[in-house]
Amino acid sequence: MSDDAFTPAPDRYDHTPYRRAGRSGLQLPPISLGFWQNFGEDRDPQSLRAIVRRAFDLGVNHFDLANNYGPPPGSAETHLGRILARDFARHRGELVISTKAGYRMWDGPFGDGGSRKYLLDSLDQSLARLGLDHVDVFYHHREDPDTPLEETMGALAQAVRSGRALYAGVSNYSPERTRQAAALLADLGTPLVLHQPSYSMFNRHVEDGLLATVDELGVGVAAFSPLQQGLLTNRYMSGVPQASRAAGSSTSLSERQVTDPDYQKRVRALSEIAHERGQSLAQLALAWVLRNPQVTTALVGASSVRQLEQNIETLQNLAFADEELARIDEHAVDGTGR
Ligand SMILES: NC(=O)c1ccc[n+]([C@@H]2O[C@H](COP(=O)([O-])OP(=O)(O)OC[C@H]3O[C@@H](n4cnc5c(N)ncnc54)[C@H](OP(=O)(O)O)[C@@H]3O)[C@@H](O)[C@H]2O)c1
Repeated sequence: MSDDAFTPAPDRYDHTPYRRAGRSGLQLPPISLGFWQNFGEDRDPQSLRAIVRRAFDLGVNHFDLANNYGPPPGSAETHLGRILARDFARHRGELVISTKAGYRMWDGPFGDGGSRKYLLDSLDQSLARLGLDHVDVFYHHREDPDTPLEETMGALAQAVRSGRALYAGVSNYSPERTRQAAALLADLGTPLVLHQPSYSMFNRHVEDGLLATVDELGVGVAAFSPLQQGLLTNRYMSGVPQASRAAGSSTSLSERQVTDPDYQKRVRALSEIAHERGQSLAQLALAWVLRNPQVTTALVGASSVRQLEQNIETLQNLAFADEELARIDEHAVDGTGR
C-alpha cells in the first residue's frame, strides 16, 4: 500500500448493529479487532496498516490492546500509535481504544500484578506508545491474589478520574471477584463497564456463572479468542499452514493441538453445520458467541484483510434455530483442542 492519505468509507456506520456494553452508555461493534499476536515486529507494517484501515471502513471502531501485546511486548501499541497518527488523527472521537495491564511487563516488583504503582505507570507507558492522551477502556488484565482488590480498583478509578481512561474493565476475573470489583468501583463512582473473558465453542467456562453475574451487574462482555486462536476455522483441516499461529514460535497454540483426532472430528462436524447455514466455520463460531445477549463484542484476531472481511460478513447471519443450537452443543465441547 502506498503512503496515501486515508479517507474513510462514508458508509462505515451503515451496516453495523452496535451493541451497548451492559447498562453503560458505551456502544461497541459486535466484532472488534484484537492486537494480541498479529501486530508485533514480525509483521509487515503496511499490512497492519491495511488491516486497521479496512476494519474502520467496515464499522470496526474498537481496537483491543494490552501493554504486553507484540511480540515483543509493547510493539502492538507502538504499531497502532503510528497508524493512528498517520491515518486517524481526525477520527479519534470515533475510536474505542482499549488497553490493559496485569501480566509481566518489566523487571522488578512493579512490572506485574495489580498494584497501583504497576497499573498507573503502565497506563502512562501505554499512552506514550499509542501517542494518545487517553484510552477509552483500561482493564486490569487478570486477578492478582497478592494485592488487595481495593488497591487495584482504586487504581482503575484513579485512571478514569484523571482522564487517562474513560471506562474501567477487568479481564479473566471469576464471577465472585467480578462482583467484588464492581461493588468497589461503584463506591468509587466509576462503574465497571466491561469484563473480558475467553469464550468460544471449545471454551465455555463463562456459561458457568460469569454470564449470569455480568447480566445482573449490568456489565458488558468483550469475549476474547472466539475462534479459539484459529482452531475454530478451516485453517488446520488439512495440515498446518506455514504462516499460521500453530506453525509459529507462539507458545499459545501448538501443532499437537491442531492435529489431535478428537479436535479434527469435532471441527469437521461443526464445519458441516456451518456449511448448511451458508457460513464458514469461523463465521459460525463468531455468530455462536454473539448469540448471547450479554456478549457486547467478540474480540477477533486477523492476520490478513481477507480474514477480517470474512469475519465481519458473519453479521449477515446471527440467528440460530433451537435445533441448530442443539446440534452444535453435541460438538461444542469445552476443552476440545487443549
Ligand atoms: N484478556 C486476555 O487475557 C486476552 C487473551 C487473549 C486474547 N485477547 C484478545 O482477544 C483478541 C483475539 O484473540 P485471538 O487472536 O486468540 O483470537 P481468535 O480470533 O480466536 O484467533 C485469531 C486467529 O484465528 C485465525 N483466523 C482469524 N480469522 C480467520 C478466518 N476468517 N479464517 C481462518 N483463520 C482465521 C488467524 O490465525 P493465523 O494468525 O494463523 O492466520 C488469527 O490470528 C486478541 O487480539 C486480544 O485483543 C485477550
